[in-house]
Amino acid sequence: MALTIGVDVGGTKVAAGVVDDRGRILEKVRRPTPSTNPKETAEVIAEVVDLLKGKFEEASAVGLGAAGFVDETRSTVLFAPNLAWREEPLKEKVESLTGLPVVVENDANATAWGEARFGAGRGHDFVVLVALGTGIGGGIIVNGDLYRGRFGMGAEVGHFRVVPDGRRCGCGNRGCWEQYASGNALVHEARELARVAPAMAGRLLELGDGRPEGISGPEITQAAREGDNAALECFRTVAQWTGQGFADLTAILDPGAFIIGGGLADAGDLLLDPVREAFENALTGRGHRPLPEIRVAELGSDAGIVGAADLARI
Ligand code: BGC
Ligand code: NA
Ligand code: ZN
Repeated sequence: MALTIGVDVGGTKVAAGVVDDRGRILEKVRRPTPSTNPKETAEVIAEVVDLLKGKFEEASAVGLGAAGFVDETRSTVLFAPNLAWREEPLKEKVESLTGLPVVVENDANATAWGEARFGAGRGHDFVVLVALGTGIGGGIIVNGDLYRGRFGMGAEVGHFRVVPDGRRCGCGNRGCWEQYASGNALVHEARELARVAPAMAGRLLELGDGRPEGISGPEITQAAREGDNAALECFRTVAQWTGQGFADLTAILDPGAFIIGGGLADAGDLLLDPVREAFENALTGRGHRPLPEIRVAELGSDAGIVGAADLARI
């Protein structure tokens, strides 16, 4: 039983686990991501690795899933739209702090790998994982292998421009897909609706303590589950963008399955049903071609840990 450690480093939390070669997590720890300070982030990663290593001495390598553009040698985060990393030598830092070999992978690539091997992608060789969270992460499996592109930063689907001169993105550009179809986009829709049409958004405002800025993602899901029309409208808007994006990705990649991960995946059918409908209405050649499956992630928030740990073996 070869054990490795997987660490999912996101904007809000660092989640780590010891994982065996069948994708099972034996032990897990979590810490908040320290503000926007890369040095402290590396230290927190080392701290959780040391803690797990203390309990499972046979753990032999570390896989880090990081929310940014990782170079082709799987060492350095060159750029992160929503975090402070710029040319950050994460592999070197964490290796010198922990003494273990480290590989760095994009967080969504790690999630895609985890889902493809042990979750919703099993049995599929052509998979597109789309993680809808703060931003949108992408992971593409082609012929059973992870697609990294020439320089390591393929599958950055969140920064596909969907609206000319649209909303400003964390990457600095305007109109990126992640400004319209992520978890943050859902919150943006709800707050805007509450500001502009408060009479329609009574339940959302109530859940947000009376202020548009108080409305959070889980509350929008809760209101939609209760049947609240304003919340359902926000889901429809985001699902429309998501389904259109899937149709565009299908035109290029022709996958067998899409897997939706990230925080928004918790909404389940509330999101899936309108995404499927929007997808089928937008797909080029519709009616004359097989449709890819659209599923939600099976491993949930563990997929990044499991995938990163598995990628550290190969
Ligand atoms: C980043 C990706 C990352 C995704 C999800 C995007 O903004 O560009 O590298 O995978 O967010 O964290
Ligand atoms: Na990716
Ligand atoms: Zn962008």
